[in-house]
Amino acid sequence: MTLHSSDLAIHARGLAKRFGAVQAVARIDLDLAPGEALGLLGTNGAGKSTTLAMLMGLRVPDAGQALVFGHPPGSPAARRWTGATPQARDLPDQVTPREILSYAAQRYGVPPAIDRLIADFGLGDLIDRRVAGFSGGQMRRVALALAFVGQPRLVFLDEPTSGLDSAAQDAFRVMARGYVAQGGALVLTSHHWDEIEAICSSIAVIDRGETVLAGRIDAIRARARITRLGFDLPPDLVPPLWLGARHDGARWQAETADSDTALRRMVAEALPFANLTLQPLELKDLIHHLRQEGTRP
Ligand SMILES: Nc1ncnc2c1ncn2[C@@H]1O[C@H](COP(=O)(O)OP(=O)(O)OP(=O)(O)O)[C@@H](O)[C@H]1O
Ligand SMILES: [Mg+2]
Repeated sequence: MTLHSSDLAIHARGLAKRFGAVQAVARIDLDLAPGEALGLLGTNGAGKSTTLAMLMGLRVPDAGQALVFGHPPGSPAARRWTGATPQARDLPDQVTPREILSYAAQRYGVPPAIDRLIADFGLGDLIDRRVAGFSGGQMRRVALALAFVGQPRLVFLDEPTSGLDSAAQDAFRVMARGYVAQGGALVLTSHHWDEIEAICSSIAVIDRGETVLAGRIDAIRARARITRLGFDLPPDLVPPLWLGARHDGARWQAETADSDTALRRMVAEALPFANLTLQPLELKDLIHHLRQEGTRP
């Protein structure tokens, strides 16, 4: 089956945006299908929020085009199906979350599913309190609930869990996965790699406004199956050079694409290792590795 661009939640080509001397986004292409979650990764100032702002219709690109379910970002049709977290400080502070969410639901023309939102975003004790005086994490929960209140088919979340405690972060992951499993499309930026890996099927790594690595996480992993070996050695010994191991201050660590062969050889050479651990390389380190190699999955 071929997807037409109007079936895609997002179809963007060549997006670019400059602020004065800063080329915030250079040429970004993105496609996102319903039922998929895309994680945008990149250092501070890489261009993630600017990309989202163009996809939400909040900023007009200097070049390139984007469509949201076949409609221009910011058009009534695109906005009807799109949810996003506002900046927490943009919320009026003399009203309660119940009032804010009910108003927002009305604007989207959907019933306010307040009980569902209370459960999904841990708003039980907060729902009828004025938001003035809410902590950062409490504000963030209201902002997250606002992103989902309109029964959107596409949600943009810019660093959704910054400021959330660990229980709220876990609850968010469950909620986000459920949303995507039911056919929702999600774009997420985060500096937490484990969060991206727990929720997203694909990633795009942005560096100075350009996509430097993009693809499905499983394909990226399949491309480079690298295992990290950790082990202890008696203090007077160093591992053989072929292993390429280094000492991280506590233990010896080595990365290998073929852990079976490496282990057989360690045993054959009677290396007296102890407390051996084998772990797949974390996504963050894997991407670092791939970028250094200059390969693109
Ligand atoms: N309104 C603006 N005026 C001037 N420069 C801007 C503006 N918005 C963004 N920039 C610049 O554009 C670049 C990209 O910023 P952007 O906010 O998109 O980065 P980001 O990837 O979201 O970073 P972070 O991880 O810190 O949120 C940065 O150099 C930033 O300083
Ligand atoms: Mg940002």
